Amino acid sequence: MQIVLIAGDGIGPEVTDATKRVIAAAGVSIDWIPAPAGLEAAEQFGDPLPDKTLEIIRKHRVALKGPCTTPVGKGYRSINVRLRQGLDLFASVRPVRTLPGVNVPFTNVDLIVVRENTEGLYAGLEHVVVPGVVESLRIITRRAADRIVRFAFETARRQGRRLVTFCHKADVMKLSDGLFLQCAREVAEEYPFIEFNEKLIDNVCMELVLDPTRFDILVMENLFGDVVSDLCAGLVGGLGLVPGANYGNLCAVFEAVHGSAPDIAGKGLANPIACLRSAAMMLEHVGSRDAAARIENAVNKTLSNKIGLTRDLGGDGTSETITRAIISNL
Ligand code: NAI
Repeated sequence: MQIVLIAGDGIGPEVTDATKRVIAAAGVSIDWIPAPAGLEAAEQFGDPLPDKTLEIIRKHRVALKGPCTTPVGKGYRSINVRLRQGLDLFASVRPVRTLPGVNVPFTNVDLIVVRENTEGLYAGLEHVVVPGVVESLRIITRRAADRIVRFAFETARRQGRRLVTFCHKADVMKLSDGLFLQCAREVAEEYPFIEFNEKLIDNVCMELVLDPTRFDILVMENLFGDVVSDLCAGLVGGLGLVPGANYGNLCAVFEAVHGSAPDIAGKGLANPIACLRSAAMMLEHVGSRDAAARIENAVNKTLSNKIGLTRDLGGDGTSETITRAIISNL
């Protein structure tokens, strides 16, 4: 099977390499189609996300992506935002579960953050009104609000989940989040067999920290989802563990929640588990359920045995030792 690979920046090539090795060891034969994106692409093609990368993904439909660096406060537009908008990957899905052997305050966390991926404050529409005054536009459309809430309910229905919580700030942003909330209520009425709850996003953050087991599926706009995903990753052991997927109607791109981690890049310290679990979601998406389950089991066994673990997990191992441990546990 052919799958597009964006290695990414920083720790991207390290975690995607480890992921490729584990997938091969699991007996899945993938013909990886490399596609440029990130700092190297910016230097080579004058664009960190060349058109040909979007074309390759449109052609093959499925991609695994390492994280890409976006300069802070200057430079080019976020590659991730462009990729998600360009391929209309409207739904970001981040399953957050407690894993065996990982020492965290809560057991039995099992929730999914569903994030609208194409608009909100990340629409990227900013301009200087007059010197010293900048305006960022927060775009909410009925179409995007409806389809992401519907996606959340359909995910709940398929996975037999009981509760969808819509997170918003419609008390302050009465028009934009007001429209989103109205759409959420309308869609919820079509799913009377799934409980629907609406909560202010600030309150959700507090409740998540107090007891994340109260939640099941959380659905929200782009910026809130970005922040809440990292918060939830922290609840179950950190960014090195939590996988993610971006789904559209035609394509899907699988990537970890974490970024390019410049502080540890090139040192062999990156934990590949988040990327590997994203790849397991990818294998499930393309119908290789057995291999996906075997990889998840091998990860769980590795975490339980606590052998070869990287520093973010409290071990003194490297990307290499944890990759070998996972392969031997397959
Ligand atoms: P980050 O997620 O790269 O790193 C935050 C902290 O978590 C760092 O201390 C890092 O060492 C640690 N960390 C992250 N992943 C890890 C892993 N697999 N194993 C061990 N430790 C890990 O976030 P940061 O530093 O805010 O962003 C760095 C760059 O990444 C920025 O340019 C940002 O724009 C980009 N980014 C890209 C994303 C993507 O491509 N999907 C997502 C988030 C950020």
